[in-house]
Amino acid sequence: MSKREIKHLENVKLSDRGDSVVIIDQTLLPNETVYLDLKEAADLYEAIHQLRVRGAPAIGIFAGYALYCLALQILAEDYDAFMEDLKEQAAYLNSSRPTAVNLSWALNRMVAKAETAAGKSKAEVLKDLKEECIAIHDEDIAMCKAISEYGLTLIKDGDGILTHCNAGPLATSRYGTALGPLLLGYERGMDFRVFADETRPLLQGARLTSYELEKAGIDVTLICDNMASIVMKNGWVQACFVGCDRVAANGDAANKIGTSGVAILAKYYGIPFYVLGPTSTIDLNTPTGEDIEIELRDPDEIRSKWYEKPMALEETRCYNPAFDVTPNELIDAIVTDRGICRAPYTESLKALFE
Ligand code: MRU
Repeated sequence: MSKREIKHLENVKLSDRGDSVVIIDQTLLPNETVYLDLKEAADLYEAIHQLRVRGAPAIGIFAGYALYCLALQILAEDYDAFMEDLKEQAAYLNSSRPTAVNLSWALNRMVAKAETAAGKSKAEVLKDLKEECIAIHDEDIAMCKAISEYGLTLIKDGDGILTHCNAGPLATSRYGTALGPLLLGYERGMDFRVFADETRPLLQGARLTSYELEKAGIDVTLICDNMASIVMKNGWVQACFVGCDRVAANGDAANKIGTSGVAILAKYYGIPFYVLGPTSTIDLNTPTGEDIEIELRDPDEIRSKWYEKPMALEETRCYNPAFDVTPNELIDAIVTDRGICRAPYTESLKALFE
């Protein structure tokens, strides 16, 4: 093994028994690496809702495996009754988080696969579903590698890169999306200086991004979200790389709360701002960012979650949107597995699917 080969984590997989999903519980990182083995519907739902598995592509991969495991538990032998149960389970999983389109994308894909299997035996339908969830995972691995290759063409050795939230291997598969070019470039002997926003309130940047980059051997500096402006002003950032949870047809991109602020700062300092994501995150059925549902989360994530003692009174009102939308005019390019899209995004994104 060459000194700079990245060791890839298996963050989501089908268990060896083949009837449950195994994940790394991301809520416990970086202090503990605990694997969970899940197959009950309520536990699968909770894992997404509580961000034990998180990051748009990883949620999609998990959802595919989860629905397959739930399909194995359906008692109905009759095809129509089986499909009714399958759709009910898909709708339940889909209600766990609203913003990342990969969740509904993967679940719809699984249901569509079962729909094309009408007339087959239950065992054959289950076999098709197993193949489909494995394909979703395999395709994501390939998409992340392709995004990494395209993204690497936008930066050069020695660059400083600022990233927000976590769009690395834990949020996806293998290389990741926004962190993919950095990991791939590092393997090829390039060096980058990465600034990771800690990403309040759930600290994905601190707990996950700095952990992944540190483990890989990449130079990473953790900053609080409100320090992005000073590192840009200091001239330490040559590009911003962020992931995405849903890209609308016009190129407006939903990503972790705080991303749009980074884009506004980048525009002010003249730094290119790039969104990286697989085609499974591009939702041409959503016309603009205005049409993206933004998840609102528990106020205690702000008031007390990471503190020994609460840092605000229990009665203090909090507003806790989990995502924001970066308007397309602040995005220099959207880097996908099928190529790099630039404005006008209504045309360049559509062309990806033609
Ligand atoms: O709430 P999370 O942690 O699931 O939010 C994740 C992000 O916003 C990521 O940046 C996004 O999913 C891109 S993942 C490649």
